[in-house]
Amino acid sequence: MIKDRKISFSGIQPSGNLTLGNYLGALKNFAEFTDNYKCFYCIVDEHAITVRQVPADLRRRTYEMMALYIACGLDPDRATLYVQSHVPAHAELAWILNCFTMFGELSRMTQFKEKSARHADNINAGLFTYPSLMAADILLYQTDVVPVGIDQKQHLELTRDIAIRFNQLYPDTFTIPEPVIKKTGMKIMSLADPTKKMSKSDENENATVRILDDRDTIIRKFRRAVTDSGSGIRVSDDKPGVTNLISIYSCCTGKSTEEIEREFEGKGYGDFKLAVGEACADLLSPVQTEFYRLMKDKAYLEQMMKKGAEEASYYAQKTLFKVRRKLGFVQL
Ligand code: TRP
Repeated sequence: MIKDRKISFSGIQPSGNLTLGNYLGALKNFAEFTDNYKCFYCIVDEHAITVRQVPADLRRRTYEMMALYIACGLDPDRATLYVQSHVPAHAELAWILNCFTMFGELSRMTQFKEKSARHADNINAGLFTYPSLMAADILLYQTDVVPVGIDQKQHLELTRDIAIRFNQLYPDTFTIPEPVIKKTGMKIMSLADPTKKMSKSDENENATVRILDDRDTIIRKFRRAVTDSGSGIRVSDDKPGVTNLISIYSCCTGKSTEEIEREFEGKGYGDFKLAVGEACADLLSPVQTEFYRLMKDKAYLEQMMKKGAEEASYYAQKTLFKVRRKLGFVQL
């Protein structure tokens, strides 16, 4: 494939209500990539069914993800926004890549080990081969860069290993992708336990700020955020709570750590927590307004899904055609 621009690919599961961590670590930066890359942003509903989903919830969240992508500033004319199950090439390449992925490799995946412990009654084959589907997502588009959170680094490394292995047998098939892991905002910690990542599946609602939480809720959650003993608003290893709040405040306002430490010198935790809550609510407010406007227009969202799927299919089919030919499948 002759490329005029480098390609960026990322995926988000339409499960759970997205958090401030998802916004700051991923969504907020997605729009920036469209300046320099041809971008594919995929709603990975096929990955979501590796754990049980309520069908109505999965469907609603898929629409919500599409609305959120757009509300976060992604322009459907500049980036390809689409739903994984609308492009069957993903599942097809995933099967092929399964035949080039080793049992031992999949067994070593941390996310598999964690999820199989959490869903011990449903350790299905899809949960196990989840990384081959993720590799298919990425490799189908001859992707150069993959913006992901640090928790996905291992899957990215496996994707590279699969691509390299395949290319050794069938030269020049796939581009070898590089992960792009953003330092700031990549790890927003839980407000209840700042040594744990803020997770959309946390059972304690006070631990996570949701992208769609209203202003009062956001401010209340920050007011309840766990801080550290003593006083002083500064970044320090023995102050994980305050450090996390400083990094959130920095992401929301663009201020540096030094500026923030100066701003709150001599002030108490109460003032600081209120300021963080307000900054966060201010940042999310326009996203929420646009989200609710879009959610009223399902027809528009479906139209964008269709357009995205058609664009994605065009690129995906090219790679799949090449793969089938190299493997020796008869092409009619
Ligand atoms: N596994 C990713 C996650 O849980 C989601 C994902 C699926 C993805 N396919 C991808 C991310 C391809 C980047 C590229 O967060």
